[in-house]
Amino acid sequence: MTQPAPESPSSAPPPVPVAASYARCIEASRRVRWDIEHDVIRGRRLDLARKFLPDGLTLVRELAFLDADARRLLSQVQGRTYANIFGLIERAIAAKTLELTRSHGLGDQVALEAMLRFTEEELKHQALFRRLDALAAEDMPPGYAFVLDPDAVARAVLARSTWAVIALTLELEILTLAHYRSSIEPDAALDPLWKDALLFHWKEEAQHAILDELEWRREHATLDDAARDRGVDDLIALVRTIDGLLVRQAASDAGCFLQCTGQALTATEAAAVHDGVLRAYRWQYIAGGVQEPRFTEVMKELVTPAQKQRLAAALAPILQHVAG
Ligand SMILES: [Fe+2]
Ligand SMILES: [Fe+2]
Repeated sequence: MTQPAPESPSSAPPPVPVAASYARCIEASRRVRWDIEHDVIRGRRLDLARKFLPDGLTLVRELAFLDADARRLLSQVQGRTYANIFGLIERAIAAKTLELTRSHGLGDQVALEAMLRFTEEELKHQALFRRLDALAAEDMPPGYAFVLDPDAVARAVLARSTWAVIALTLELEILTLAHYRSSIEPDAALDPLWKDALLFHWKEEAQHAILDELEWRREHATLDDAARDRGVDDLIALVRTIDGLLVRQAASDAGCFLQCTGQALTATEAAAVHDGVLRAYRWQYIAGGVQEPRFTEVMKELVTPAQKQRLAAALAPILQHVAG
């Protein structure tokens, strides 16, 4: 019987043979394929009267003292960072998928094609996110800065073991799907162009999450217990690296917002904005993904109870901050 296409991010990974999964990802990749200008941008500009990101991601509702204009501005500042962070992390992901693609060179040609498409799509996504940020820069007040260097971050990420890099990639792809499904798609107040960009991104990320899982299991099978244990250490190090990046960018974005907002805020309220932006980023890129059932289910299969404990202890301060 023909299985449904792997389009719906709400369903668990399908219980089909590995070869069939790679083939289905190619099929879905062909079907949803899109072009940045022709399908997403379509000659449009951003509407600054609209939000870029939903409240469920920006957590602006927790900053109850902000007026409606300030909340919208904060969603736009966070939106630019959302585009830039995905553009940044996709540089590391594409470099790693290129390496994984090469490892299929003389083997399964279906897997090779699926991974080649994955790599090419991540290059396109980086271009999409650069385009979005450029559109935002044209119309938004000056002051925003993305303070992170994608190449430096990619070098730090790729220095870690493949097991850990794929685990982090899966976490990020799954949270992209969760963001779209649970808060971006239902929000009718978002800028239509920004929302479309995230819709088209979501369509290709659905395949990526399946491929990440296949590749993670494939890598896992080649490692002995000691190497898997080092993978867990590397994953903890990667989470700390990402968290350090979020601390830096959140400080810059809170400063940008406070400089641009027309609302007068007290020192206590300004401090709450700084804390609120960091909490939002920790929720968007770390807490939201590591708690997604689809991620925890795979993780449970690939790590021992002791390794799970180590991961939980490392994540605890971040999750506690997000929980407030
Ligand atoms: Fe992507
Ligand atoms: Fe992706």
